[in-house]
Formats: sequence, C-alpha cells, structure tokens
Amino acid sequence: MRMIAHISDLHFGMEDERIAERLLEDLNGIDPSVVVISGDLTQRARKRQFEAAGAFIRKIMAPCLVVPGNHDIPLYDVIRRTLTPLRRYRHYITADLNPVFEDDELIVLGANTARSATFKNGRISAAQIKMLADRLCSAGSHLFKVLVTHHPFLPPLDNPYAALVGRGGLAAEALEPCGLDLLLAGHYHRGYMGDLQSHDITVKRSIIVAQAGTAISKRIRGERNSYDRIIIDPPDICFDRYAWEGRAFVKTATTRYKKVGGAWQPQTQDIVNIPSF
Ligand SMILES: [Fe+2]
Ligand SMILES: [Fe+2]
Repeated sequence: MRMIAHISDLHFGMEDERIAERLLEDLNGIDPSVVVISGDLTQRARKRQFEAAGAFIRKIMAPCLVVPGNHDIPLYDVIRRTLTPLRRYRHYITADLNPVFEDDELIVLGANTARSATFKNGRISAAQIKMLADRLCSAGSHLFKVLVTHHPFLPPLDNPYAALVGRGGLAAEALEPCGLDLLLAGHYHRGYMGDLQSHDITVKRSIIVAQAGTAISKRIRGERNSYDRIIIDPPDICFDRYAWEGRAFVKTATTRYKKVGGAWQPQTQDIVNIPSF
C-alpha cells in the first residue's frame, strides 16, 4: 500500500500562513510515501516567494516530487521570462524539471509543462513525450504508474472547453500502452476527478484524472483550499479530499476505484461534508 499526498497551486506571495502551517502539520503527521506538488509554487516567480516555497518544501519530511507551473515563470520581466524563465525555480526548488519517484510499488513521473511563450497555458514537448514513454514502458508492469503535470488533461465538468495541456492527446496516446494509471495536475484551483476516456476517445483504457484545488493560496475560485490523500492498494485506489474548514483540513469526499479486467472502474463516492462557502 502506498499513499500520495497531492498538493497544488501554493502561490507563495498570496499564501495564507495559518493554512500553510496546518498543511505542514498534516503532511508530517500522515507520513505519505511521497508528496506531489503540481506547480504554481509562487505568485509572481519572485525571489522571496521562491525562498518561502523552498523553505516550506524543506520542512516536509516525506520525499517530494515537484513540477513548476505557469506562475513560476516571471510574467512582467520580459528578459528574464524569455531568456531564463525557470532559473529561480531551478535555484530555489530543484534543477530537475522532469523528476521521478520510484519504489517497489509505485512510479511517479513529473513533467514540466510551463512555457514562457504562453502566459498561462502549457504544453508537453515531443522530446518529453518520448522520454516519459521510454521511462514508463521500461518500468515494471506491477508498478502503479502516475504522471504529474501542472496543466490538466481533463477539463472541469462545468467548463468542457477549458484549455488543457498542449499535446496532451499525443502524450496520452504514447503513455497509455505503458500502463499509465493516474494523471495528477492542478492549475484551475478546482478539485475534480474523472476518467480520461470520457474526454479523449482515442484513449483505449481508463486513466484516472485527479485534479487538486489550491492548497494554501488566497487565490481561490469558488472552492475552499484543499488537498488530496490518495491511497493505492491495488486493485483498489481511494481518493480522500481534505478541505479547509476554518481551523483544520477535514475530509469532505472519498472516491473509490477498483481495477477490474485491467480497467479502473468507479466504485463509490461519499460526500462526507460539503463545507458552505
Ligand atoms: Fe495556480
Ligand atoms: Fe497555473
């Protein structure tokens, strides 16, 4: 059994310090196998914001797998944006833009989708797709296989035309035969789930998509701050969403899938509590 804690869109510079403190207590109390941080660590890619984000991450005791988001590239500094878009991210967070976490049950690949040529959209390059496919296809078939990006593969249910990660279809096509099980991303500050097959008809087997909300940022969009705990115990996988209720993160939803005949099938969804907002 493995547990992934998935946090996203921290936006240091616009963070709520009290929520950040409680999140850290949660993460260090639950002892996850890995903490996935799916981008937008800062609000404007400023030094102090990266320093704060780096200090936060260093306080997490579990291994962390981090990818950058569009906010981690300077927006207004055109020279820096064009010539050295992720220099501060590399300096303060990690130089590895396509990180990997692997143990004997789980492999998690991260891919940088932030690009200086677009303001908020992102994409995967052809070279990244090849690298990801090589890595994922050569990993043991007994492993649970996860890809982490900042930009999503699946739109929110109520906004089917929302921009998705560029070349996402090509990536899904290449990674699906390698046994990709789960896609984790953020960006929209909305927590939602689905099966990639429901959106991309070229995908031949189910790939679960789990989008995290914003964990600690004041940049909320109609939802409370939240993060996810994902418990992987094949053939079962369980997603617990924890939302901020003013003093602590509380479990607000549990969604279960089971792998039946090679496909992930939704089992139950329990809405434990819907916080008023
Ligand atoms: Fe964000
Ligand atoms: Fe973003």
